[in-house]
Amino acid sequence: MAQIIDGKAIAKKVRDEVATAAARFTAERGRQPGLEVVLVGEDPASVVYTRNKEKAALESGVRGKLHKLPASTSEAELLALIDRLNRDDTVDGILVQLPLPKPIRDQAVLDAIDPRKDVDGFHPTNAGLLAVGRGGLVPCTPSGVMRLLAENGTKLEGARAVVVGRSNIVGKPMAQLLLAANATVTIAHSKTRDLAAVCREADVLVAAVGRAKMIKRDWVKAGAVVIDVGMNRDEVGKLCGDVDYADVFEVAEAITPVPGGVGPMTIACLLENTMKAAAARAGG
Ligand code: GUN
Repeated sequence: MAQIIDGKAIAKKVRDEVATAAARFTAERGRQPGLEVVLVGEDPASVVYTRNKEKAALESGVRGKLHKLPASTSEAELLALIDRLNRDDTVDGILVQLPLPKPIRDQAVLDAIDPRKDVDGFHPTNAGLLAVGRGGLVPCTPSGVMRLLAENGTKLEGARAVVVGRSNIVGKPMAQLLLAANATVTIAHSKTRDLAAVCREADVLVAAVGRAKMIKRDWVKAGAVVIDVGMNRDEVGKLCGDVDYADVFEVAEAITPVPGGVGPMTIACLLENTMKAAAARAGG
């Protein structure tokens, strides 16, 4: 029987911290920290995500603004908006929701965001700073996972950590953060030979593959801490993670549920990054 890591409660704590910092920033600077969220097109998941991001910002005393652009927006038009937001001193964070409709190139757009305002941490400058251990803005989901592990009291130094998934958004930065915390880190992926055996070595297992209930009980070492980044629909359309929760619950020491685990942390860490960006731009 596993301890349930309550992402909702921990995210609330982070958001309260952000609200305190945002109130102080506003009092000292005479303006609120500002987050601009850009949505192009009407991908249903993206519509929900961006609405939630704007709402969460407003609830924490961050000036959140959602720009809704039609799917027909050209790359040049989107780049022009980013250029305007880059130059606007009242804007601390810029987030462009992915995926972008074709033929806009994700990479060209992400590269155009001022790295100091890149609250997603997706700009190559921020990815590089993370890789060499020199700060910068860190992607929100892996950053949220680190906070969940810290709040759970999970010891990372010397631990075997396995990250399943190698995306730029989650897998790679997750591995960098675990490494920086002195874990011994393996990045596994769809081409990994005997994936189950690799997962079984983990003291800390982070699943970020996007395949419903892929990780079963016999993939998990007794007493492991299991973090589920997945957000999938099961065979009856119910939200589920990459981990077979009911199955793995029996062997893990601690586990995050889906929903209510990593998900709420991503938005909380986005607001935290916005505060970090605001403070850094204001000179610390
Ligand atoms: N699409 C799915 N996840 C994310 C995210 O964390 N940030 C952005 N910008 N787009 C996403």
